Parts: sequence; structure tokens; C-alpha cells
Amino acid sequence: MKKIISVVGARPNFMKVAPIHKSFLDYKNQIVHKICHTGQHYDEKMSKVFFEELELPEPDFYLGVGSGSHATQTAHIMVEFEKILIKESPDLVIVVGDVNSTIACTLTAAKLNIKTAHVEAGLRSFDRQMPEEINRILTDSIADYLFITEQSGIDNLLKEGIDKNKIHFVGNVMIDSLTKYLVKSDNSEIMNKLNIISKDFVLVTLHRPSNVDFFDQAEKLVNLLNTVALLRKVVFPLHPRTKKNWEDFNLFSKLSKNIIITEPIGYLDFLTLIKNSLLILTDSGGIQEESTFLGVQCITLRTSTERPVTVTIGTNQLLGSDLQLAERTAIEIINGKIKIGKVPKLWDGQSSQRIAKIIVEKLNCNNIEIGN
Ligand code: UD1
Repeated sequence: MKKIISVVGARPNFMKVAPIHKSFLDYKNQIVHKICHTGQHYDEKMSKVFFEELELPEPDFYLGVGSGSHATQTAHIMVEFEKILIKESPDLVIVVGDVNSTIACTLTAAKLNIKTAHVEAGLRSFDRQMPEEINRILTDSIADYLFITEQSGIDNLLKEGIDKNKIHFVGNVMIDSLTKYLVKSDNSEIMNKLNIISKDFVLVTLHRPSNVDFFDQAEKLVNLLNTVALLRKVVFPLHPRTKKNWEDFNLFSKLSKNIIITEPIGYLDFLTLIKNSLLILTDSGGIQEESTFLGVQCITLRTSTERPVTVTIGTNQLLGSDLQLAERTAIEIINGKIKIGKVPKLWDGQSSQRIAKIIVEKLNCNNIEIGN
């Protein structure tokens, strides 16, 4: 029997680990799969609700690290995760995405000579101002198995000199969750609750430090949203980071009445909002992919994306470096000038099964090698 620990920490991790957990249940005679929650995100609406909706079991380990500066948070996760690894001695640690929990747990495992797998590897924004970019590069440089969502991931890793035998193009596990829960999300009451009509509202999410931590940029974005709100209702579930900064900057008083601000929203309600929206304005990574899969118009308010396939073949447009152009494009989309997109290769709901199969083979191979 082999033991695997998968790590979740922040909101975008839960929908990635849920299908992986389920795929390992097909191998329950060979694999014990455990979940460690670092506690990077801890509010009920940022964490617990996702476990319930994604039918994930309670985490086997909860590190309870909470918020802090990058060094504090990363170090705290490492100290606590090391204790778990020493006690449990797993055969493999799986990390997903690019948050501080991802690099912290990969580094901890690597130093204990425990094998690691990175799901959603190889993505690069080429913007090292983003904390996530540092997390991505470092994680990929030490992980043993690299699971890729799009061709750019392979190209980037090969350019960085990563051994091609470590790289596996498996598709996008987040789309596994999306395809699984899309029908269930039809029961959501969120549209009625917010009094909005399908394809008649604009959905917004903003939480990147570059967009919400500095007054000038935060104010420019509020002005952009106010313009869009002249044409359609705007729905904006507020991330805690954004809420705190907007309070400090006194920006709530400047918001149009046509902008509906909500608390962070659970997975099923959020899927309902994505699929029914006319247009999404976002700086999230995952939402660029979800909108591309669903064929929903998306404007990304960032200067770079680590997910270029959403722009080259999906419905995404990267317009953060010119907010006037972003505003004009939003108006054009609302008036019917849409971008037609396609679904990227292997975003078919089967990615976690591919990952589980590869990992089972790899772990058994190692066994044979040791036996020889
Ligand atoms: C983190 C990830 C980011 C991801 C985002 C998704 C890093 C470096 N960043 O950013 O890649 O896109 O999650 O949401 O890992 N807070 C709460 N409640 C919570 C969690 C956070 O109130 O449950 C507040 C705290 O004030 C905290 C702040 O939000 O200081 C930021 O949280 P943190 O985890 O540091 O980064 P995020 O901005 O959430």
C-alpha cells in the first residue's frame, strides 16, 4: 500500500484536489490518499463551504497557519508540514496551483527526500512581481512529476531545462470539477437572490495585489466598473484582501448603485454566475480557464497571463495594460461584438483520472526498481 498526501491551502486549490481525491478511490487497494489543509485560507466562505460542496472529506491534517507576510506564512506552513511528513512518511506529496502553500509543502517534502508531484505545472506569466510566479518556478524546479494543463507548460519547462520524462500533459483538473458540478449548480438560488437575469449582468472578481493593494490602480478599476455599470448590472463577490483595501481607501462610497457587492461566494453559486454572465472582468487565473471552457466572454485585467491558451484559442482577452481599451472592449462585448473561442486540448473532465493512473504506475515502478 502506498501513501499519498495532497495539499490544499487557498480557495483555488479545493476544486483541483477534489477530483484527484476521487480518482484515487478507484485504486483504494493500492493507494491511501490523505488531504492536508494548511489553513492559508480559513474563513468559512473561503474554505469550508468548498469542502462541503465538492464532497471532500474533512482534511486528515489541518495546519491552521492563517494569514501573514509571505515569509511568515510560508515558513509557518513548512514547520507544521514537516511534522506531518516525519510522522506519516508518505510515498508522495501532491501540490496544486501556485499559492504559498504549494511551494512551502513542495520544499518541505523535497528536503525530506519525499517525492512530489505538481499539478498545473509549467504555467508562466513571466512577471516576477507576482508572488505566484516565484512559487511556480521554484515548485517546478524541485518537483518529481509535473502535470501540465496546456502546451505552453511543456514549452516553458523544457526551456528551463527540466527533464522531459518528468512532464505529463494531462489536461486541466479544475475542468474535471466544473464538468462534474455544472448540472448540480442549476439548483442554485443565487440568480433569484441577487435579482439578476441570465446574460444580462457582468461578473467581476479582483484580488491581485497589483490591482487592489495600491490606491491609484484600485480607484481606476472602480471607475472602470462604474462605467460598465451604466450599461448592465455588475455583480462583484468581494475577496477579503479587496474588501480590506477598499475600506482603507474609502472606495465603497464611490461605487455605482448598479454594482452588487457580495461576500465570497461558494463553488456551485459561483459556477452559476460564471455560466450566466454576459461578460466577466477578472484578475483570477482559474476564472480565465472556466470562462474559456464555458465559452463566456472574459476580459483579464492584468498585464500578463500564465494561461495563454485562454487568449490564443479561448474567449479571454488580456487588457490590463490599457484600461481604456479594456473599457471600450467591455462596451463592445455588451453590444454584441464577442470573441468566439474553442475548448483547449484535454480539458475534457478526465484529467484527474490520467494523473491517478500515471502516479499509480510510477509508484509501483519504483517498487520494482527497489526490489531489484
Ligand atoms: C492567495 C494566493 C493567490 C490566490 C488567492 C485566491 C498566494 C501568494 N496568493 O491570495 O495566488 O489567487 O489566494 O484567493 O498564495 N483573508 C481572510 N480570510 C481568509 C483568507 C485571507 O480574511 O480566509 C485575508 C487576510 O487579511 C489575508 C489576506 O486576505 O491577509 C490575503 O490572504 P493570503 O492568503 O495571504 O493571499 P490572497 O490574497 O488570498
